[in-house]
Amino acid sequence: MTPRDTLADGLTRARERTLRLVDFDDGELRRQYDPLMSPLVWDLAHIGQQEEFWLLRDGNADRPGMLAPAVERLYDAFVNSRASRVDLPLLPPTDARAYCETVRNKVLDALDALPADESADFRFALVISHEHQHDETMLQAINLRTGAPLLGPGAPLPPGRPGVAGTSVPVPGGPFVLGVDAVTEPHSLDNERPAHVVDVPGFRIGRVPVTNGEWQQFVDDGGYDRRQWWSEPGWAHRQAAGLTAPQFWNGDGTRTRFGHVEEIRSDEPVQHVTFFEAEAYAAWAGARLPSEIEWDKACAWDPAAGQRRRYPWGSSAPTAHLANLGGDALRPAPVGAYPAGASAYGAEQMLGDVWEWTTSPLRPWPGFTPMIYDRYSQPFFEGTGSGDYRVLRGGSWAVAPDILRPSFRNWDHPIRRQIFSGVRLAWSEDQGSAA
Ligand SMILES: [Fe+2]
Repeated sequence: MTPRDTLADGLTRARERTLRLVDFDDGELRRQYDPLMSPLVWDLAHIGQQEEFWLLRDGNADRPGMLAPAVERLYDAFVNSRASRVDLPLLPPTDARAYCETVRNKVLDALDALPADESADFRFALVISHEHQHDETMLQAINLRTGAPLLGPGAPLPPGRPGVAGTSVPVPGGPFVLGVDAVTEPHSLDNERPAHVVDVPGFRIGRVPVTNGEWQQFVDDGGYDRRQWWSEPGWAHRQAAGLTAPQFWNGDGTRTRFGHVEEIRSDEPVQHVTFFEAEAYAAWAGARLPSEIEWDKACAWDPAAGQRRRYPWGSSAPTAHLANLGGDALRPAPVGAYPAGASAYGAEQMLGDVWEWTTSPLRPWPGFTPMIYDRYSQPFFEGTGSGDYRVLRGGSWAVAPDILRPSFRNWDHPIRRQIFSGVRLAWSEDQGSAA
């Protein structure tokens, strides 16, 4: 495939996925399942609007678009809060679908006509990434919906391996290369760049994410009621929000997932916990959360080769044998399911399954330069931006393999847990740890 075929294919696969997530009746698409989320029809038209803006209008707001300016403004995520979107005069579902289709047809024509140019390719990759990121957001919304399930229970996953939960692997101290450059990762986003050398003291990191079974022990031990494990803001939030278990746990050994009530699998990574809960769990377990720099080293650095790997396991593209990605499973895979996907240090399931909370606020790497979409990262940086975010790494089961790299950085407020978030523990060298 030529690079242009790859981009066309990426656009098509993202759209097939989006259309599966809006294949419901009009009433369903207009509903707001939760104030934290947009109605699905907002995401749909916003996907089309961003695609038109970046690929048909070169990101130039002065160039007239297909929508009237007042309508286009409804889809500006910085102007309209998620909670407010249900009350906006949004395009009806039929119009939103037609708009997206018209934009897409013109975009595919534009792609054909484009001269070879790296910066143009980046814009297409950015749009593919944007659509897949909204698909994950729409899955969060559908998961919050009450009533009979819209989606099935999810595609089958490989079995886990006994004996891996609660174990850890050492990551010796020393310098490594953090971040990536356009040369090696042309589709990487601004906050992943540039590559630079960072020295990290040795540490241990969980071989796999923390499981539901381990989390249940924290619950049973009164973890949610003991102030000692919680930070001050964490405890304040735990009290105010009345947290007693991960979101969607029903208190009788079952959980609700995409409307399906099912037994909580003890060997599956825990999901739907806030940063504050993750921090409290880690303290209870005699551990801590990793920084995102530690996480990155454990995931991507190859100490024998002295360079970063494209993926934790090497250079081959993700497959169903290596990681749980793409969204079809609708849940994380049991721990130990992907021994072939281990990093050089032996950490497993670093990509896919659950986003992993780190202790790090979102900061630019030294030498940061904003990309064409200059509001992607900058407004959220600690200090200069709106702050109060923690970085999550590794992607979840809902992330498309096309857009995920070890260097990919996600961030959210420390109180959020409708996201597909989980926990991996770390230990400093002077901290005792699981073998
Ligand atoms: Fe967006």
